[in-house]
Amino acid sequence: MVAIALVLVAAVLAAWLVAGAIGPGLFHRHMAEAEKSPGTVVEHAESAFASASAVTLAVALFAAVLTALVVSTVLARRVGASLGSLSSAAANVAAGRFDVRLAQPHIGSEFDDLADAFNAMATRLDHDEMLRRRLMADVAHELRTPVATISAYVDALEDGVEDLTPQTVGVLHAQTARLARLAADLAAVTQAESSGLRLDLQFVAPARMVEASVAAARSRADEAGVTLTATVEPGLPVLRIDPDRVGQVLGNLLDNAIRHTPRPGRVTVSVRRLGSFVRFAVEDTGEGISTEHLPHVFERFYRVDTARDRAHGGSGIGLAIARALVHAHGGTIFAHSAGPGLGTRFDVDLPV
Ligand SMILES: Nc1ncnc2c1ncn2[C@@H]1O[C@H](COP(=O)(O)OP(=O)(O)OP(=O)(O)O)[C@@H](O)[C@H]1O
Ligand SMILES: [Mg+2]
Repeated sequence: MVAIALVLVAAVLAAWLVAGAIGPGLFHRHMAEAEKSPGTVVEHAESAFASASAVTLAVALFAAVLTALVVSTVLARRVGASLGSLSSAAANVAAGRFDVRLAQPHIGSEFDDLADAFNAMATRLDHDEMLRRRLMADVAHELRTPVATISAYVDALEDGVEDLTPQTVGVLHAQTARLARLAADLAAVTQAESSGLRLDLQFVAPARMVEASVAAARSRADEAGVTLTATVEPGLPVLRIDPDRVGQVLGNLLDNAIRHTPRPGRVTVSVRRLGSFVRFAVEDTGEGISTEHLPHVFERFYRVDTARDRAHGGSGIGLAIARALVHAHGGTIFAHSAGPGLGTRFDVDLPV
């Protein structure tokens, strides 16, 4: 529109200027000639009018064409440059280089939006690629230790260096169990994070979820010397959730809380209403998590104390599964901790 307006303005301006500057002069000359040469005044006036309008029109048209040419060239250059950089950036992304970013061309909001959308896509792909690489590295790392242990023991048995004692069998069992667990965890997290996760939604009272998860964790808590309590706010609405999946979330949180709370600690599961959400909270008086680790605990394979958490049998996937399941319910999950030694609280908010 601006381009067309420019062309029109140029034509009108030229016509107006020419009509104002040249027209009267031409007219005047013709009329002056009329006094000397033969012919009627009307004829002279007509020819004066004709030549004045012809010159005006010609100059105005010329100005319009010139402006149109300049404007079109500039526009075509800018649009072309913008599309050119877009297509070369797309080619880069197709070749696996996700760090390309487009500058906003500033030739209309649609072009700027396109550049923004492209950048968002490249950022997302970049992030996913990084996660994929890290996942592969983590899986390889997790596999290495048990496989190396098993293989060393098998070699030793074969060479007769080691006998098949109950102790050796125990070690082999523990390592194969760790591999089996890793495989199961990987399958679980992949399923939980896939968009095809199917929820079997039912109407469930929040109190029932709390009771069931506390009952399931009771013996582990007793064994660990941890006091396990539940508090349920009265008058809570029923939730439309998949009870198995939410049970899995609370189970993972309780498992962590009990594992990271030294005796004689306390673990509390509570549920209350919070506006349009129902908040399940699992709180412990245990080790706590420092602020630098807090944002990462939901990442796959993330463990605060890698060596010790692994010795505890954790593969660092429990919270990744919990987060994926909570998101699948349209909810959110947050971790809070005042710091090491000050306990931890996990809040799970599910929509009413
Ligand atoms: N209640 C808690 N108190 C202190 N640290 C915690 C607590 N919950 C989780 N963490 C930390 O967050 C890390 C990640 O937890 P997550 O449940 O994902 O893995 P994990 O418990 O190590 O293994 P998994 O759950 O797969 O058996 C844990 O290794 C632990 O360091
Ligand atoms: Mg865990």
